[in-house]
Amino acid sequence: MKTADDLTFRPASASDAELLASVFMECFAGPPWNEPWSLETAVRRISLFAAAPTFRGIVAIEGSHAVALALGQIEGWTQGNLFLLQEMCVLPDRQGSGIGSRLLDHLLSRLRDHDDVIEMYLLTDAGSEAESFYLGRGFRRSDRKVVLRMGTP
Ligand SMILES: CC(C)(COP(=O)(O)OP(=O)(O)OC[C@H]1O[C@@H](n2cnc3c(N)ncnc32)[C@H](O)[C@@H]1OP(=O)(O)O)[C@@H](O)C(=O)NCCC(=O)NCCS
Repeated sequence: MKTADDLTFRPASASDAELLASVFMECFAGPPWNEPWSLETAVRRISLFAAAPTFRGIVAIEGSHAVALALGQIEGWTQGNLFLLQEMCVLPDRQGSGIGSRLLDHLLSRLRDHDDVIEMYLLTDAGSEAESFYLGRGFRRSDRKVVLRMGTP
């Protein structure tokens, strides 16, 4: 759907892997994340997500360029489905102008209307600007769950 400012929001698919990977790389290269992605490792990450039948995503396009993405997986649950939001980002020079909020709205309405999703959840760094973004848009910290990690010995 086209909007007045020329941004288009459309579902993402496996054939978008390179397009999405270039946005993803640029978004997470700088502070606060400073993640050392190459195009190859970014394409691999996105392609693995997108190969699953449970993959769902939205990409924001402006002209011929992607400027933002939101990607994840649906999971079956007792009533309806859950959605794990695995990656969401807006190009650094476009952050803070409302694109992320609109992208999340598109994703939520699509998941609710097409995939019977009743709840979305995600992992992010505690106290980060990203957490503030999500808290300002209806997400709440879980008071029961923790993230547990272990390297492979
Ligand atoms: C977090 C992110 C997706 C938000 O999208 P956005 O388009 O910048 O956000 P919007 O303009 O719709 O909303 C602005 C809100 O986001 C918050 N925010 C978070 N990160 C921000 C950033 N880098 N720049 C500007 N605002 C940011 C602001 O505090 C603001 O909150 P408020 O409306 O309650 O005052 C985007 O900033 C981004 O891609 N950041 C880098 C990657 C990242 O952190 N992704 C999430 C990892 S889990």
